This record gives sequence, structure tokens and C-alpha cells, in this order.
Amino acid sequence: MCGIFGCIMKDGKVAPTIHAALKRLEYRGYDSVGEATIDDGKLYVKKDTGKIDEVHERCNLDDLPGRIGIGHTRWATHGAPFQVNAHPHFGCSDPPRIAVVHNGIIENFAELRKELEDAGHLFRSKTDTEVIPHLIEEMLNSRQFAATVNIDSEFINATIAAIGRLQGSYALAIVSTMDPGRIVCARNESPLVLGIADDALYFASDVTAFLPLTNKVIFVENGEFVVLGEDLLEIRRLADGNPISRKTKLVDWSPGMAEKQGYPHFMLKEIHEQPRCLRNTLRLQNKYLGLLPTFLDRAREVIMVACGTSYHACLAASYMFSKLSFLATYPVIASEFAEQHGKSVNIDSTILAVSQSGETADTLSAVETARQRAATILGLTNVVGSTLTRISRVYIGQQSGPEIGVAATKTFTSQLSVLSQLAIQLAKRRGKISQEEIDLLEEKIENIPDIVEGIIETQEEKMRALARKYKTKQSFFFLGRGISYATALEGSLKLMEIAYIPSLAFPAGESKHGPISLITQGFPVIFVCPPDETRRTVVGNIMEMKARGASIIAICEEDDEDIKKLVDDYVEIKRGIPGVLSPIPYVVPLQLFAYYMAIERGCDPDMPRNLAKSVTVK
Ligand code: AGP
Repeated sequence: MCGIFGCIMKDGKVAPTIHAALKRLEYRGYDSVGEATIDDGKLYVKKDTGKIDEVHERCNLDDLPGRIGIGHTRWATHGAPFQVNAHPHFGCSDPPRIAVVHNGIIENFAELRKELEDAGHLFRSKTDTEVIPHLIEEMLNSRQFAATVNIDSEFINATIAAIGRLQGSYALAIVSTMDPGRIVCARNESPLVLGIADDALYFASDVTAFLPLTNKVIFVENGEFVVLGEDLLEIRRLADGNPISRKTKLVDWSPGMAEKQGYPHFMLKEIHEQPRCLRNTLRLQNKYLGLLPTFLDRAREVIMVACGTSYHACLAASYMFSKLSFLATYPVIASEFAEQHGKSVNIDSTILAVSQSGETADTLSAVETARQRAATILGLTNVVGSTLTRISRVYIGQQSGPEIGVAATKTFTSQLSVLSQLAIQLAKRRGKISQEEIDLLEEKIENIPDIVEGIIETQEEKMRALARKYKTKQSFFFLGRGISYATALEGSLKLMEIAYIPSLAFPAGESKHGPISLITQGFPVIFVCPPDETRRTVVGNIMEMKARGASIIAICEEDDEDIKKLVDDYVEIKRGIPGVLSPIPYVVPLQLFAYYMAIERGCDPDMPRNLAKSVTVK
């Protein structure tokens, strides 16, 4: 998730406005920043790695001439945070004539890049975005224009033709010395909003960027492009160029609310972002989806190391790798790794380290222990350029965008999506499950974002009601069998860390080996029970708890009438989700339950006491 912004002013210097707007968008990404303005037919650019204040200190982002410009604050997905990978990006011409900023993922960038390189284009960066200016140049050179857009500008027609070649998600903006008074923007999936003031026109990734300047907005929809100029604002459909008229809206958010896009807390915003993040994980580069399974396939032993929520993702992944790829993997809590495996890890070991931040000290320490004994290190992280990406032999980015809430939510489900894709790729390679099963899994994983979207839409109110009903309870059990044990652990951690309620998660089969002694009348027990191979025995566990007076909440499939009639409350998940993928949708109600329990108990979900977003101390 990056932040884009741009504007065209009636008079004055645009650079300070861009700089201030990017500061307001910094929460969307902060590993590099850049601006481009046009003045007197020339393009001026400043960009570098680092947070906005650091780059401003070095380059003075306010010192660019011109009344028209664009800017970008980056969260790296393709290409580590080096200056050359910072936006804006340019084509071949020197001095540059075209500058582009982009938020999203161009899925077909590798093919486009090869096509353009074969046509003689020279690329500077490793980003997917850089294909866009080169493509525009290629359209201009070969005079391929968008047949449907009869705007009096070859540059704009070539730009629309180039955008028509893009696949994937984008909110992008382009300026050029060839049409110095205009900005072209376009949107597919990644957010884009226009701001209208008397003396300027703005575009941005979200309202936060320009809210202090105007609250008159127009939201751009998917498949639309916009041409901004002095006293010019045209919205058209990319498919056929037809103009679209859309009324302005007045936004009554405070700047603080705008950063949360109207949500009361980042945690709730990030729970709601999961469908989009999950779609982004389905756009991983095949290169990496192929490379990691190669290492896993060859490994003599695979140990996964992580902490907290990331450890729960590893635990879930161990069931995926076992059931789909017939690969035994050992999830280990990172702080225990040295004690458990410090002597046995060796050159034949492969370590898969999972860390959203890529900076967790316990995880990095475990990796270092393994590296010293010549193990192969693989990484899964959300932060390209983090320490984990630098010490891994190969890493894969989960592309969730910054997660501001201390409690991991969208990054957990994104990790699970990536890990399940790795398990499926490995299953294909090993041929341990039928092609029919693989086809079904790949179809279902494509549906997961919509399923999660449906759960949020249909079950959020129910979770809020359940939080109200159970808010006085002083402790909870979270139970699951098989892969659902990982889901139960994650639900328990969420409730503990943001609502400060002691809760215990353990395999449902363990209940009779001790924990059931805690059950008294009305003791709340949450069961995660998808209709997988464990369901029959879970029903028995539910009966055990019920017989001792527990109040039972079940997260179960929508058709599961047997479980629904057994329990006190239930949350319905759409039917047909394979067990190995179930943690992704089944955890969402538990995230919402924890969030609303925190609200009911007057806790701050974004800033829970005693916790930090990234634990960089051992
Ligand atoms: C999860 O909600 C917590 N914030 C915490 O357990 C976290 O998952 C853990 O510290 C690991 O962080 P990492 O993924 O950045 O390594």
C-alpha cells in the first residue's frame, strides 16, 4: 500500500503542497518518497529512500518549481527500498518527459517489461511501476492510441492505450512535458479520490492527503480515468472513453478520522482491508511462488520460526504442508529455537522465518543461530527491505501494506494466504494430491477474498452483539482441532492483547486432560469447527463442555444445523471452504469479537497497554 498525491494550482508553488500531503499519507508507506513537478515545459524531480522528513532534510522537497505536480510515498512490494526504486518513475527519454506514480500491483509487469526491453527500452528499477512510462513511450513511438478516447492530446491517448495493457491493481497518475498543463489519473481497485477547491484540483489515495485544503471530494471508481487541468476535470470510462458525470460529496471527517478512512480505529480499518490485501496476495510473482517451494522440496528438514500471530500462521502452515505436500515441517516459537534446535540445526536444515515486521528480535536471533550452523534461510515478511529480507537466501513479500494497529489482523490472513499458495505449489511439484484437488484448492483460494468480504458484511453486527453479551466474562477458552487449533490460538491472542481478558487456547482433544476442570456454569468456550475431518470429534468436545454448564459459541459452517442446535451462539461461515484454508475466513469473526470486546471494556484497540507493534528486543 503506497500513497499517491498530486495537484494543479491556479498559482503558487505546488511542491510544498505535495510535500505536506505526502506527510499526511505517510501511514500508507514510508520507505521512500518522491515528487515531480512541471514548470516552463521542463520536468523536475526529487526522490530518495527514507522517511519523508529524512528525505526532505536531504533534498528539500519544497524546492521544486511549478504549479502542477505529483508525489508518492512508498511501501515496497517489488524492488527493495533503494533510490532507484522510489517513485516517480520515468521512461527512456533523457531528460525525462514522463513521470508516473502508482499504488497497487501490476500483475503482468514481467511480460510487459520483457516486451519493452525487446523493443529497446532500458529499465532503471526493479519495480512493476516502471513499465508504465515506458509503455506510454512505446505507444507514442508506434502511434498506438486508444481508439475510444478522442481527447485532443496524443500523450493522453497514448497513456490510455498503455493503461489498457495493464493487469492488476492500480491507482496511478502521470504528468508529462508533452502536455504540461494536465495530469492523467486512473484507477483499478487501489483507491483514488479527487479533491476540488476554488484555487486547485487534487487527487490522492485517500481524503487524508487534502482534507485540510478542501472537503469537496469525488471518488473515482474502478475502470475510470481522469484528466485534470486548470479548470478541467474530466472523468471517463477506460473501456470506451465515455464521459462520466459524478456529483461531488462533502466529507465531514476530522483529519484523524480521515487517516482511518472514517473507521474509529486502525484495527477495524485493517480488519476491513483484508479482502483487498488477500487479493493482493493472489498477485504474487510466480518467480517467488516457484522458488521457495524448490528450497522446501529439497530440504532434509523444514523448521518454521516466528512469534505471536506469525507463529500461529506457521502452525497453520504446518498442517497445510503436511496435508497437501506431505512435507513435515516444525513450527517453533522463535524464542525457544536455540534451546530446542540450536545444536541439531545444520546445513541440511531449511528455516522458514515468518515475521510481519521483519525486525522481531526473537525471530532474527533464531535465524542467526541457524545461519551460524549453515542452515538455509527463507523469509516471509510484509516489509521489503527489513532485516529479514536482507538475511534470507530467498524471501517473499506478503504485500499487506503497513499495519498500524498493534494487533496483527490483515497481516495474519495474508501470511496464511501466501503459505497456503506455497503448500499448493509444493503439492503440485510433489504430485501427492490429485489434479482435481489442486484445481479445487486454487479455485477456492481465489474465492477467499470474497468470502472474507461476505463475513465482514454479514457477521460484524453479530460479533458486536456477542461482545456485548459476553463482556462481563472474566476468561475464555478457544478450542479447535487440527488446523483450527491455530485459528483458536489466534482468536485467544487477539482477545488477550486488546481486551485484556485472560483466555486459553488448546487443542479440543486436550480438554479432558486437565483444562476442563475450569469449566463452571456459564464459562464461555469458543469452538472453531469447520466441517473438516475433525468435526465429528469436535462435536464430542462440545458435548463434554455443554454437560458441565459451559456457554458455547461456535464458528461453524452456515449449513451445520447439528452444531448450531447444540450451542448457545454461533457464527456462520459460507459453505465449501476446504479445511486447510479455513483459518483465513474462520479467524475473521474472532478478530471482530476481540475488537468489540475491547470497545465494550473501554480499551484502546490500536494501542494496547504494554505492547509494541514490532518487538525489537529479546
Ligand atoms: C500480534 O497481534 C502481536 N502484535 C504480536 O504477537 C506479533 O504477531 C509478534 O510480535 C510477531 O511480530 P512479527 O510478525 O512482526 O514478527
